[in-house]
Amino acid sequence: MIEIKDKIFWVGVKDWELRHFHGEEYSTHRGSTYNSYLIKDQKIALVDTVWTPFHEDFVKQIDQDFGLQNIDLIVINHTEQDHAGSLLYLMEKIPDTPIYCTKNGAAMIKGHFHKDWNFNIVKTGDSVDLGEYKLVFVETPMLHWPDNMATYVTGANVLLSNDAFGQHYASPYLFNDLVDQGELFQEALKYYANILTPFSKLVRSKLKEIKGLNIPIDMIAPSHGIIWRDNPMQIVEKYDQWADNYNEGTVAVLYDTMWGATRKMALSIARGLENKGLGAKVLNIGTSDKNDVITEIFKSKAVIVGSSTINGGILSATAAILEVIKGLKFKEKAAAAFGSYGWSGESPVIVEKRLVEAGFNVLMPSIKMKYDPTDENLKECEAFGETFAEKMRA
Ligand code: FEO
Repeated sequence: MIEIKDKIFWVGVKDWELRHFHGEEYSTHRGSTYNSYLIKDQKIALVDTVWTPFHEDFVKQIDQDFGLQNIDLIVINHTEQDHAGSLLYLMEKIPDTPIYCTKNGAAMIKGHFHKDWNFNIVKTGDSVDLGEYKLVFVETPMLHWPDNMATYVTGANVLLSNDAFGQHYASPYLFNDLVDQGELFQEALKYYANILTPFSKLVRSKLKEIKGLNIPIDMIAPSHGIIWRDNPMQIVEKYDQWADNYNEGTVAVLYDTMWGATRKMALSIARGLENKGLGAKVLNIGTSDKNDVITEIFKSKAVIVGSSTINGGILSATAAILEVIKGLKFKEKAAAAFGSYGWSGESPVIVEKRLVEAGFNVLMPSIKMKYDPTDENLKECEAFGETFAEKMRA
């Protein structure tokens, strides 16, 4: 246990070994943490638990440090397994303990565990007195599940924000002023890009609502990664920017290739963009981490996507990325497609169609090259990049 503020303890778990989260969907190069908090006031409240594989150590540690029977109430801000996964084991030990959660939270807990525990359904503004402190609940539906809420600890001025403002980042330290800032913001942005992008409109309105409350916030303690205690509002400001169709003005040139022809096209297109003063980042989709590619798309003002043609279709890694970006609902990003082929040459048109379906603004018809591109062909690709840059500025 670590006391993060007077009477508020971090009782979570650091998962140093985690390399993929949400099954295999989200890469976690720096591991993760499942942050659970215990508030030891006149009453004791436990806020969230940890992922299922860690349930025994988690419960044993709390029992040793505080005594399980002394817990007066449990708050479940979010029912996904990484936060509610230890609930079944915990409730075997203290079955009558009230659980505070949203209406959707109770339904989801029942759906996951098939138990009808002592649920106390809360709405925004509802509160529980602990003695000196009070817990005030704020519903945050679809950020990022229908059940989500945050818990604000009055008196301590701590916002227990659950997934919001979190990062998949295990570190020797718990606080934002102690860790490498580049790593911290890289992981926070990756988390936003890959998980919260589809809900950006809701993020903005919820941030406005929370700011409008004018409550003092000394600390934002999410359920993953580092706790924001030094200028905690800096991550709120970042979320405001990220939720506002964020980009850094660059172009991501993404390709997959069988024998290198599409790669040559990608590099020439990037040269054309650079000729016109645009920053281009070239990534091989086939060899790059999927979530890192998504993060680069998030940071880009435009994407140009290329694939070789195979069996009348596109390469599988490109198909996967196009499927993911459709669900993420990026807004206000320009796009174009390209690709090489041997005989039928469908890939650029397929990529272009998928980009349109994903909500990208395709600025110009795709370009394709048969077999290995000649120097002249590559000049055409360079010109394609230059034209694309001009259209972006038009
Ligand atoms: Fe960290 Fe939505 O779970």
